[in-house]
Amino acid sequence: MGSYNQGLLLLAGILVTLSLPRSQAFWGNENKVNTAVFLSPKFVLGPGSVENRFYYNVDFPKGHIAVKSFNAEVIDEAGNPVPLHETYLHHWVVVRYFVRKGVKLSEFNDHAKLSMSDYISGRNSGICQNLGQFFGLGSETRKTATHIPDPYGIEFGNPAEIPSGYEEQWMLNVHAIDTRGAEDKLGCTECCCDLYNVTVDEYGRPLRPDYKGGLLCCYDHTQCKVKPGFEGVRRTLYLRYTVKWVDMDSSILPVKIYIFDITDTWKRTRNSTGINAEHRCKVEYDIELCHATGSADGGCVDTRRISLDMPFSGYLIYGVAHQHSGGTGSALYREDGQIMCSSLPIYGEGEKPGNEAGYIVGMTTCYPQPGAIKISKGETLILESNYSSIRHHTGVMGLFYIMVADQLPKPMLMLHAVVQTQDSIMLLTILWAAVALIGVVAVISVALHYQLKREGEDGYEAFGM
Ligand SMILES: *[C@@H]1O[C@H](CO)[C@@H](O)[C@H](O)[C@H]1NC(C)=O
Ligand SMILES: *[C@@H]1O[C@H](CO)[C@@H](O)[C@H](O)[C@H]1NC(C)=O
Ligand SMILES: *[C@@H]1O[C@H](CO)[C@@H](O)[C@H](O)[C@H]1NC(C)=O
Repeated sequence: MGSYNQGLLLLAGILVTLSLPRSQAFWGNENKVNTAVFLSPKFVLGPGSVENRFYYNVDFPKGHIAVKSFNAEVIDEAGNPVPLHETYLHHWVVVRYFVRKGVKLSEFNDHAKLSMSDYISGRNSGICQNLGQFFGLGSETRKTATHIPDPYGIEFGNPAEIPSGYEEQWMLNVHAIDTRGAEDKLGCTECCCDLYNVTVDEYGRPLRPDYKGGLLCCYDHTQCKVKPGFEGVRRTLYLRYTVKWVDMDSSILPVKIYIFDITDTWKRTRNSTGINAEHRCKVEYDIELCHATGSADGGCVDTRRISLDMPFSGYLIYGVAHQHSGGTGSALYREDGQIMCSSLPIYGEGEKPGNEAGYIVGMTTCYPQPGAIKISKGETLILESNYSSIRHHTGVMGLFYIMVADQLPKPMLMLHAVVQTQDSIMLLTILWAAVALIGVVAVISVALHYQLKREGEDGYEAFGM
């Protein structure tokens, strides 16, 4: 980082500290951001084959930490990113759990036999029973922002939260489909039962006759239809994941993670102590062809909306949706129709990993100003998920992840409080003066930067933090 940038930050920090005398400046957080890159256990795929594996006790940063971002991608043995049109990343999810010390969980099979007293879920904050992960995306992984702005983070490894006699561990589920040589690539990625010649589920139970596609037809070691005579080598792949984190301390405000699902058919239940909600999240759904649904406006958009009662309160810090190919966007609204957060798919346009034509290679995210969007307990929000219905789709998803903080950063609380008093004008004047000064310094800094650059220094990185 260029020293003038450090100087700028320092100056900004001083100005904020000066203008807000009794508050703690949270800028220039001294917490060092750590980065670690891990590999999943390897998995091997040949043309048309599927791996849906559950890896227990995978690598994850240790200690009492706050995670700042989690990114991932599929790579081959040489470390090269593999494009989605060869290996489609249906999804990956990362789940925390607590396991009795000394008990070893290896693979999925053992998990079924696991004594429940040895295993305690360490799930997220809600609201679907079957969606307990902290991190997880699919094909959109490469171009979806996951960073959590300062001073927030997702807290893990808090000794006070780990049951005694247990340790915190992580499970990684990777579901990948090799579509090299596939007769119908999209059909394979949408898990069309016909293409997999599957009529019974993973446990041998017959599928409903109207079940045309979805996870029940592309479980581990199923095989999608490949063009006759197509030859392709089996190859070894990994999910490479990068975690950024800081050591936990009192300057970091924890965020909670909630996941909503457009297929959630929840109902209110009443018991002696109050009203509850029972959630049933099917996770997958199908999109009918628009002609078949007799869409009058010719828009050919499948719009689903559900309303959800919020069982918590807090400030929205981050939001992102998960959709499959055909998705055209998802959003959260207040009951009066005001938009809170939207997340739109980014489709690739070429061949290279991260830009594969026809695939969702990223989802836009929302980062409201902390404090700008407050969710109140009991409030009803509307979740919306849109798909193009120009063609039929099976096994699509409409998930929405949000991160919510209980608290606002301290200087912001000060500002909120101060603005309500008569002295606010004075303080705002000082603040504006500070902002103007920062602007001037920034201009000088930019000028300096360009000058340095013209003198031959490659200063591009100096502008990144
Ligand atoms: C599909 O599965 C059935 C048995 O479930 C089998 O008899 C048939 O040969 C399979 N077809 C193909 C094309 O693999
Ligand atoms: C009623 O709901 C409360 C609140 O979620 C719960 O803690 C309690 O166990 C429920 N009681 C019964 C009898 O189900
Ligand atoms: C979803 O589709 C509806 C109807 O076409 C439209 O009004 C809405 O803005 C769309 N929402 C998003 C998030 O794209």
